[in-house]
Amino acid sequence: MNDMTRPLDPPYDAPDYGSTRLRAPHEPPMDPPADLLDVPGPLVPRAFVHDGDNDLTTHGRSAPLGEKMIVAGRLLDADGRPIRDSLVEIWQANASGRYHHPGDNHDAPLDPNFKGIGRTFTDAEGWYRFVTIKAGSYPWQNHPFAWRPQHIHFSLLGNAPVQRLITQMYFPGDPLLAIDPIFQSVPDPQARSRLVATLHLQTGIEAIALGYRFDIVLAGAKSTPVGI
Ligand SMILES: [Fe+2]
Repeated sequence: MNDMTRPLDPPYDAPDYGSTRLRAPHEPPMDPPADLLDVPGPLVPRAFVHDGDNDLTTHGRSAPLGEKMIVAGRLLDADGRPIRDSLVEIWQANASGRYHHPGDNHDAPLDPNFKGIGRTFTDAEGWYRFVTIKAGSYPWQNHPFAWRPQHIHFSLLGNAPVQRLITQMYFPGDPLLAIDPIFQSVPDPQARSRLVATLHLQTGIEAIALGYRFDIVLAGAKSTPVGI
């Protein structure tokens, strides 16, 4: 996929998002053979996902710190049809805004009860659901005083595993969205708004977890921007 086929996605080179300058291709995209991307890839084995992999709060000795939340939504194609049995993976910072990763040097505490990785398959109606905690904001080196809005990274295989897509889910009302070069790299404001989850209390667990809805549309005029 390239920018020409997905005009709602951010450009490879977004000047305010510094690292895109380094990784944006300098040559025009190659045209792969027309049938290359239509070949059904290998199905992801069901055993790749274990029971409980969609609950990021139960893998430690006790519950992780932070605001417990549910995020659920549907994976849909351009015509609103569900994409079934498709692998959805997420990764995120802990409530203090630190990733469980050796490359993260942010001076914030690790949480031994939170690894920040989850995976699940969509069901017959395209639904996925994760139990997690709200990720914290963290500073980054893009420019002085730069902080990322709170977000959860998503990886999607759709029904074509050779075309792994990644995107980020944001939270409504976050004041950092207006000044975040990554979020703002999506040029169309309506497309950008589709990266923001909707607060939906009934998706949560009564008296235990807040609920958010985040549908992901993989193609078409209502597509969720990917490549961020
Ligand atoms: Fe991140």
